[in-house]
Amino acid sequence: MGEGERLGTRVVRAARSLPAGAGDPVVPALVQSVAFDHPSASEQDAVFGNERPGYVYGRYGTPTTAALETALAEIEGTDGAVCFASGMAAIHAYVTGCGLRDGGRIVAQEDVYGQVRAMLERMRGEQAADVAFVDPTDIAAVGTALDAAPTRVLYVESISNPLLRVTDVAALAALAHSHGASLAVDATFASPVLTRPRDLGADVVIHSLTKYVNGHGDVMGGVVAGTADVAREMRDRSILDGGYLPPHEAWLILRGLRTLELRVARQSESALAIASHLAAHTKVGRVHYPGLPTHPQHALAARQFGGRYGGVVSFVLRADTKEAAFRFLDSLELIASATTLGDLYSEVLYPAISSHRRIAPEERRRLGITDGFVRLSVGIEDKDDLIADLDRALSRA
Ligand SMILES: Cc1ncc(COP(=O)(O)O)c(C=O)c1O
Repeated sequence: MGEGERLGTRVVRAARSLPAGAGDPVVPALVQSVAFDHPSASEQDAVFGNERPGYVYGRYGTPTTAALETALAEIEGTDGAVCFASGMAAIHAYVTGCGLRDGGRIVAQEDVYGQVRAMLERMRGEQAADVAFVDPTDIAAVGTALDAAPTRVLYVESISNPLLRVTDVAALAALAHSHGASLAVDATFASPVLTRPRDLGADVVIHSLTKYVNGHGDVMGGVVAGTADVAREMRDRSILDGGYLPPHEAWLILRGLRTLELRVARQSESALAIASHLAAHTKVGRVHYPGLPTHPQHALAARQFGGRYGGVVSFVLRADTKEAAFRFLDSLELIASATTLGDLYSEVLYPAISSHRRIAPEERRRLGITDGFVRLSVGIEDKDDLIADLDRALSRA
């Protein structure tokens, strides 16, 4: 090869080659390739036919995305995991592929992430999908919802966004199973550091990888982790629906994953100090944080999360108005007023104009997301600087 090649051929071929024998990289390789060459057509045929492992095309699987999937399945203790281009893409694939498929029914937490609630409401409206909403902290109400009709999936968040309600995963798994349903847990807020829902009986674990798992605010991604059957169905969804996580994103998320435990440990410690500070502040009404003894599910959180409570603190300004909330947001200097969470950087979000914008205002307020409600994601900055920034902004709210 090479001898006698013309330049037009040589530049294409040479750019495909890797130098051999240079030592094993300590960081997983970023294989930024859409297609994969096979020694024979029959071997390619076997990979396409799932008769042997391998890679054929970027939407079917890539070595770098597979490295992330293997890591996440191992961390969550599931048979498999499939990564998607965002948390919403992962949830959509699971809800349509496993929950609502063939007329299945979903019972979902009423205060799930606002866009997931909006997605489920849209499916109910456009496709007459059978979706019921319930308060999952009321076990009797969940039982009644499951008794009402055969249900395929009970869908909850282990710590809900943004009310930070804590769900009893073991109790809900037992209840779902006694009704022939699967329990799917969106564990984005808790992250694998606080809990592994599979160990508590959940069938499926979902994360927006955009949040704690990546943690650097520079990539979006999502994962569905579960049984081999669920993984197979999710793989098929990503092939046909096209929402697979590309390799560069997966490589960055693997980079973030390596410091997950360190970050969440520090964020949980700072968040507890900040929540305690806010609870005693004259400008603050209610504080939602599972680590505070006043939180309605504090005992459950202590048992389920092993002494850490995560990096998100939500609170309601005493004034409880949009004007006060906007003054507060505009007065922050260190903390970013930005629509995400789980990053190295502290961020504050006003759900009424962002994550819960599509939820009817009456329903939003009924859930407790009133006009002075803000959500703070605590980063890894020094907590005293964060408290000073909050105090300064509160004094102007
Ligand atoms: C709990 C939860 N699940 C899912 C999502 C959706 O994830 P993504 O923004 O990566 O699509 C979010 C986003 O904020 C979330 O908070």
